[in-house]
Amino acid sequence: MRLEGKVSIVTGAAQGIGKATALKFAAEGSKVVICDVRLGSMDEISSELKEMNAEFLAYEVNVVNRDQIKTMVDDVVSRWGKIDVLVNNAGITADNQLIKMPEEDFDKVIDVNLKGTFLMGQGVMKEMVKNRYGRIINIGSIAGEIGSVLSGANYAASKGGVFALTKTMARYGAPYNITANCISPGHIDTHMTSVWSKGEKNAFINNIPLKRLGKPEEVAWGILLLASDEASFVTGVILDINGGILMK
Ligand SMILES: NC(=O)c1ccc[n+]([C@@H]2O[C@H](COP(=O)([O-])OP(=O)(O)OC[C@H]3O[C@@H](n4cnc5c(N)ncnc54)[C@H](O)[C@@H]3O)[C@@H](O)[C@H]2O)c1
Repeated sequence: MRLEGKVSIVTGAAQGIGKATALKFAAEGSKVVICDVRLGSMDEISSELKEMNAEFLAYEVNVVNRDQIKTMVDDVVSRWGKIDVLVNNAGITADNQLIKMPEEDFDKVIDVNLKGTFLMGQGVMKEMVKNRYGRIINIGSIAGEIGSVLSGANYAASKGGVFALTKTMARYGAPYNITANCISPGHIDTHMTSVWSKGEKNAFINNIPLKRLGKPEEVAWGILLLASDEASFVTGVILDINGGILMK
């Protein structure tokens, strides 16, 4: 098992990519900390983790709430002694055409996607520095690489920021044996993309060389790879998981 003995935190773990990641990590032997904005939203994943006999803790944490982050980090460290892996997965969209976008929508998305990644990273990296070990995996998006009108200017800008933040975490963490990498998903079949019309979905699918949306589990696989000890010399990279829609 790739994560035997590890302690991993996954944000936004109630559904979608976060849920698939937490389940995969547990199957690979990690103790798993799941968190999301509402504790109740994690009932389903909690039952699945229980069925697997996984060791897990669930916390209500809004990633923009510094106090909630601190309470979770302190509690995890007091119970399990360390944090090895952080997956900054929580993310939102608030779509609107660029020139019609209210300022509050711009701020809201930047707050959760970018500032949330920073605050979680800051809270957890302190522990990783103490232990001279860490794996941070931030979730970007193809929108952050090429821009996106459909996902929104706020969303694309937040994810572009996540890429720069990841590289900074990688540079800062390297002397402490902490790696930081990014996954950049393309179009994945989750709640986030369920708001697209059939026409919008088909237009995307037509442009994807593999001719389908990705599955959350396919993204979780990439996250696992970057979290594993085999990836010990990989840091500061962006791993695209997009069915070939962006080939560099
Ligand atoms: N689905 C896609 O096509 C796609 C593409 C590129 C990137 N992504 C990114 O992947 C990540 C996961 O997206 P998903 O598709 O699984 O979406 P999703 O909407 O299914 O899940 C997102 C989860 O994040 C949680 N969340 C939202 N705001 C939060 C906050 N402030 N604090 C804590 N948790 C919060 C939600 O409650 C939810 O459980 C996001 O960062 C998203 O931007 C998704």
